Amino acid sequence: MSVTTDPDKMQHAQVKSAHPLSGEIKVPGDKSISHRLAMLTALADGKSTITGFLEGEDCLCTLNAMQKLGAKVTHNSDGTITVEGTAGRLSEPDEALYMGNSGTGIRLMAGLLAGYGIHATLTGDPSLSVRPMKRIKTPLEEMGAKLELTGEKGTPPISVFPATINPIEYVLPMASAQVKSCIMLAGLCAAGDVTVVEPAPTRDHTERLFQEAGIPVEVDGLCIKMKGAGANGPAIKARDWVVPGDFSSASFWLAAGSLSKDKSITIKGVGLNHRRTALLNVLERMGAKITITLLSEGHGEPWGDITVSGGNLVATEVFEDEISNLIDELPLVASLGALAEGRTIIRNAEELRVKETDRIEAMVVNLRRLGVEVEEFDDGMEITGPCNLNPSQALTSFGDHRIAMSMAILAQFSDEAFEIEDVACVATSYPLFWDHLRQLGGEVSGV
Ligand code: S3P
Repeated sequence: MSVTTDPDKMQHAQVKSAHPLSGEIKVPGDKSISHRLAMLTALADGKSTITGFLEGEDCLCTLNAMQKLGAKVTHNSDGTITVEGTAGRLSEPDEALYMGNSGTGIRLMAGLLAGYGIHATLTGDPSLSVRPMKRIKTPLEEMGAKLELTGEKGTPPISVFPATINPIEYVLPMASAQVKSCIMLAGLCAAGDVTVVEPAPTRDHTERLFQEAGIPVEVDGLCIKMKGAGANGPAIKARDWVVPGDFSSASFWLAAGSLSKDKSITIKGVGLNHRRTALLNVLERMGAKITITLLSEGHGEPWGDITVSGGNLVATEVFEDEISNLIDELPLVASLGALAEGRTIIRNAEELRVKETDRIEAMVVNLRRLGVEVEEFDDGMEITGPCNLNPSQALTSFGDHRIAMSMAILAQFSDEAFEIEDVACVATSYPLFWDHLRQLGGEVSGV
């Protein structure tokens, strides 16, 4: 579990039911794409402008790290950012690179540093400092990289040392886009072919962005193949990018809307990459009414508007092949399970144990505090609903943004106000969350 070190400094939210939330919202830019674009534009030759870059703490850590490696970043008055790249000539930073709360940031950055042969140390906050990093050390070392995990149990800090990167064919032991992308970033500078085979399809933003940036990647089912360009990496041209809205941020409003009988919520300009949107199928099975307007296929990613409404939900079982495509939305599915008729079952989701916090334990603790019947498994949970939500004590985020936001959505469906402890973490992925909750009619204080 993650810890916020000084309880006096914790930010708490009081959230009251304002059901039904309704209206229109534009969610901030996609977090996964923003991390990757901070890296790609910093490797490019010349100035790139990014519209919709997510200025949440996680992605800002990645952007700061790229600045310490030599990129020049300007935050423009129109909300865009301009990155003047290094043309692949990164410089060794004179201090550790702090990656905050971000597993994506640290794992992708370790691959990039290993590839470009940069000596640097990557650190993080208390939550990131207990997350497993052997999953990236093993393939990177197989490629010839030199790195040390100096945390207690295969955990950060990660020190990377210069080394030559060799070709690899790696079968991923777990479905992880972060590990896949770490290998692909190191692979940019490999002396030959790099092949990654996934056990299940995971989000493919790295593949799409590489292709858009002119770096050839072949995808054949679960097999991703690229050719390393050697020690200096590929030539990447600077260009302008637009980031779609983050589907995972939109999912909080999708969940709220799916419980509304007479009103609806519309989310504008959101990413619709099918490796991210499995929640839509789950919500439809539970009884939500969803309309999608596809607007564009710009910059390698499909995006559009989603309108959702619903009513009384029925429970569902999340299929094994859906798990990796709604991995970040599972706390929300568990939350909806508390309000749906029947038993909602989530299995094969042991990866939830090693996210920003142990999300299975965090959800079980919070749902039980609300009086919900939940059974905990090593790899998931079973929730029996519907339940009259009645908090016996304050809820807690365990320092995890997605747990905090899931609880704020559940508060819309209780007669009692919820006290949610330790909510500053929301700023890692969705700094405007509380404003957007108010904009859709929500009642919040303390934040
Ligand atoms: C991410 C991949 C997922 C996801 C995370 C972002 C990414 O992690 O949970 O929030 O940007 O690649 P895993 O790939 O480790 O499951």
